[in-house]
Amino acid sequence: MDPRQPTVQTVHGVDSERGNGIDWIAMNPMPLPDLEDKLAAILAICQKMNSERDLGSLLDLIAREATNLLGCDRASIFLLDRERNELWSQVALGSSEILRFGAGEGIAGHTVQTGETVNVADAYSDPRFYDAIDSSTGYQTRSVLAVPVTNQAGETIGAFEALNKRDGVFGARDERALTALALHAATAIETAQLVAELRRSQDDLVRQNVHLWREVEGRYASHGIIGAGHRIQQVVRLVERIRDSSVNVLITGESGTGKEMAAKAIHFTSPRARRPFVALNCAALPETLLESELFGIEKGVATGVQSRVGQFEKAVGGTLFLDEIGDLSLTAQAKILRVLQERVVERVGGRAPIPVDVRLLAATNKNLEAEIGKGNFREDLYYRIMVVHIHMPPLREIREEIPLLALHFLKEYCRENGRGPMEFAPEVMRRLCGAQWPGNVRQLRNEVMRLAACAHQDLIADDDAWDEMPAAFGRAESAAAPARPQSLKQAVEELERKMIADALGETKGNQQQAARALGLSRQGLINKMKRYSLGG
Ligand SMILES: Nc1ncnc2c1ncn2[C@@H]1O[C@H](COP(=O)(O)OP(=O)(O)OP(=O)(O)O)[C@@H](O)[C@H]1O
Ligand SMILES: [Mg+2]
Repeated sequence: MDPRQPTVQTVHGVDSERGNGIDWIAMNPMPLPDLEDKLAAILAICQKMNSERDLGSLLDLIAREATNLLGCDRASIFLLDRERNELWSQVALGSSEILRFGAGEGIAGHTVQTGETVNVADAYSDPRFYDAIDSSTGYQTRSVLAVPVTNQAGETIGAFEALNKRDGVFGARDERALTALALHAATAIETAQLVAELRRSQDDLVRQNVHLWREVEGRYASHGIIGAGHRIQQVVRLVERIRDSSVNVLITGESGTGKEMAAKAIHFTSPRARRPFVALNCAALPETLLESELFGIEKGVATGVQSRVGQFEKAVGGTLFLDEIGDLSLTAQAKILRVLQERVVERVGGRAPIPVDVRLLAATNKNLEAEIGKGNFREDLYYRIMVVHIHMPPLREIREEIPLLALHFLKEYCRENGRGPMEFAPEVMRRLCGAQWPGNVRQLRNEVMRLAACAHQDLIADDDAWDEMPAAFGRAESAAAPARPQSLKQAVEELERKMIADALGETKGNQQQAARALGLSRQGLINKMKRYSLGG
């Protein structure tokens, strides 16, 4: 045979005479010594491959070991990128440079497309040879042996190429050795690709998580509690003071005054911030479900019951917020008291107590002392949960905060809806400050959101939308307005109250300016604000 002519040996699938890479070993019960060496070498390589999880290092390792095993100059693995219909490979050992070319090009491309083994003695004489790779790498290819890299599912995921056999040309033994190696390489490569994919998505999740944490912390770093007056500042100071401890806190206040907001502020500024905040509304739970909801239930307690983790367990390391605690039955109160005393829970139908490290925050709009008097609330539980007491004032007692709160909610609306800055016309602010707000801050917030959403322009004016859609606070004003003044004194007082509220609205709560506008001293204004429950 003329060695200058391209010699192409093509093995289609399993060769019955020689077997494939694995059968070949099995078919030789007494392998020749050098075959035994090769077998041992391949096993050793497999062991190394299986412990390498980084794709780049793995490809390096396989190439390096293949050159030693086959006694050749170079070996490369070309992997198929199905999306781009390209083959890619590392340019050289240890190199991070990637070589890419069309999936059908070159001898590697032929092997990937046909699944055939190609053994060529003189590459430049073979029409399939893709010499552009040599030109780009500056390498001079002589002999080439290419075998398909096939995964467990039987898909060809690439080609394994050995170049330039040092003494002579590649033979049948080289083909078998490379095929055996390629079989194991496929598994190791797919594992490494999977690991890389998992690492990437884990990195993405960590990045997302950091981003979310920043947002949560940003929102509650200043506690998210808005208010410049001493009543709200008292709350803020208390939250700060208990920041590092895990004491139980009772938060009281009417509906919509910010009890849950205060609970979140306590949790997110405490060392438990990165552990769960679990909120449970006691009033919304029927008595029959309460125990399993709080403490969990074991599988099979009743027919078809699956085991479920209770809220106490979900909050381990973090905070459990029991909302509307005043609505708990006496039986449920006794059970919660036991958990607080013993710091363990027992699932319904469970045998072993489970230790729980949970901080308890509780909220209610009831007067618990009165409930104790009526025999509806346990006194011992009351003292357990009320180590610290925070009272959220109703909005009518902190009217001076209305401008600040309204502007805060307007900004929130603009941020959440991707809008530029908006403003209230003075008469709108005056109305907001004069209304009664029986639904407290929540009602004010809803109203600001509604006004902002209905506004035709960046300035929220006292225009048609106002009359067409009776504002919540408009209704509130009439609903909660005192009965028509009966006497001159009452009429004067009503007028005085309104003028003061208007002035405070126009000056965005600035008492100095409001007093000046009304022709009063600041102290005189404060006295009148107190008399008319206008805060201060
Ligand atoms: N001082 C405040 N600063 C900023 N936002 C507040 C303030 N007070 C209340 N809010 C907002 O008002 C809304 C109602 O608050 P929250 O849900 O905490 O009230 P609540 O007292 O738990 O009401 P309920 O008793 O009806 O459950 C929330 O959007 C909250 O962020
Ligand atoms: Mg609430």
